[in-house]
Amino acid sequence: MITAPVDLLEIMEGRRSCRAFKEDPIPEEHIQRILEAGRCAPSGSNMQPWDILVVRDPEKRAWLIEILESMIRIDWANETATGGTFAFGGLGYTRNVPVFFVIITYPRFSKISGQNSTSIPIIQRQNVGHLVQNMWLMIHSLGLASVITMIRHVENEIKECFGIPGELEVTQVLPVGYPRQFRAKSRRPLQSFVHYDRYHTSKLRSEELIQEIISNPKKLALEIYGT
Ligand SMILES: Cc1cc2nc3c(=O)[nH]c(=O)nc-3n(C[C@H](O)[C@H](O)[C@H](O)COP(=O)(O)O)c2cc1C
Repeated sequence: MITAPVDLLEIMEGRRSCRAFKEDPIPEEHIQRILEAGRCAPSGSNMQPWDILVVRDPEKRAWLIEILESMIRIDWANETATGGTFAFGGLGYTRNVPVFFVIITYPRFSKISGQNSTSIPIIQRQNVGHLVQNMWLMIHSLGLASVITMIRHVENEIKECFGIPGELEVTQVLPVGYPRQFRAKSRRPLQSFVHYDRYHTSKLRSEELIQEIISNPKKLALEIYGT
């Protein structure tokens, strides 16, 4: 039951990824509401193939930040070794963050009988997307902010540190805190990607345009960080 009018679109328009946080602690009831929002998320066959690890302990947070930083250093080394340029900056902004939500998934649940095997990885990713989106919207509605850090290279270290069983996957980490940064939304206008009754090829984004976007680190960084 909705007890007060909520303009959901306003919440969606206002939510942005945040990479500058205050140190202020988050009230426990806010943490519980964020978790409840995740609990409500839909998933394929209602398998709810996730766990959420809440990291508040200062020493564990410091360890997590260090391992995430090392993850970015590996990215940088890999990129420069292959002549590429990496658009993502460091994760120094997480030092102030009072709470991290580590998203954990069960790969075993991706084997739903009767499902077309080619759609399974898509379902798995979509499940987590719904979970995170629910949490993000609640985070924003509480005056808090977050961002995603996708986990790569250091999954095993994270599992070992937090006692996460090897059969599970650690897919992403959400730092959550009070924002020190507010940015205007940057999105394509509706008329550029919505098609009524038939696909209008005049709106198809050309290969040149896609290349320009994905292979231009400065433009990517501008899109991601706004600077
Ligand atoms: C699936 C997914 C993965 C993302 N991965 C990262 C990431 O690893 N690091 C990061 O700083 N931002 C990450 N982001 C945040 C995006 O850069 C951000 O959502 C996008 O630029 C749109 O900006 P907004 O969230 O402020 O509206 C990710 C977002 C999504 C949905």
